[in-house]
Amino acid sequence: MNVVNSMRMRNVKNKDEILNNSEYFIGDPFQYMGSWNKVFKNNNPIYLEIGMGKGKFIRENAKVNPNINYIGLERYDSIIAKCLPKIEQNTKNLVIVRANAIGIDKIFNHEIDCLFLNFSDPWPKVRHHSRRLSSEVFLKKYDQIFKKEINIHMRTDNTDLFAYSLESFSNHGLYLHDVSLNYHLTCKDELITTEYEDKFSSNDIPICHVIADKTKCLNK
Ligand SMILES: C[S@@+](CC[C@H](N)C(=O)[O-])C[C@H]1O[C@@H](n2cnc3c(N)ncnc32)[C@H](O)[C@@H]1O
Repeated sequence: MNVVNSMRMRNVKNKDEILNNSEYFIGDPFQYMGSWNKVFKNNNPIYLEIGMGKGKFIRENAKVNPNINYIGLERYDSIIAKCLPKIEQNTKNLVIVRANAIGIDKIFNHEIDCLFLNFSDPWPKVRHHSRRLSSEVFLKKYDQIFKKEINIHMRTDNTDLFAYSLESFSNHGLYLHDVSLNYHLTCKDELITTEYEDKFSSNDIPICHVIADKTKCLNK
């Protein structure tokens, strides 16, 4: 069985109960557009992960950075139901939102400081490329969600998606920083990894990484 097949989504029977009883779950995020600071009851920066899966990356980040607010966005209830029970009690800086990212510009209005795209679905067929979370369709929407300027951090195992994304970011007027085709080798910092990342790297599949933003600086 390959790595991806072994991670297919399974239905969680009591998912509705888990979602409805969690203080961290937001099922109707559109009502908070323009007022996410009130959800967190502070004006700290807000970091968003689209497609957070079971949420290891965002949970661990929230734990070590209490002065940053984190939002995990995921479209499938069964996956969210696996994330919610793992959130530590009394976590104040994390919420999990159920939504399809295609509506992202109806959820946030210039409120996000940083966006993580970790192991996004690759949509390999050319006719599906516009569904990629790094396509121009999404980049235009991301222009509406950032507080200041676009700031995207991307990791993927998929070199085709990575090459496409570098071009897409560049065509959108973004500069590329910290570009790596083997991030676990080149990164000097201690990394918080995702579930998919752990599976891929334990199979010796290299991880690609880029930061795309409006900064021209070469030494980022
Ligand atoms: C390959 S998984 C990666 C999960 C996690 N980021 C990780 O690295 O372990 C991609 C996730 O993105 C979610 N996803 C894909 N497209 C999405 C969209 N348009 N809106 C919200 N979530 C999406 C999928 O449901 C899935 O959970």
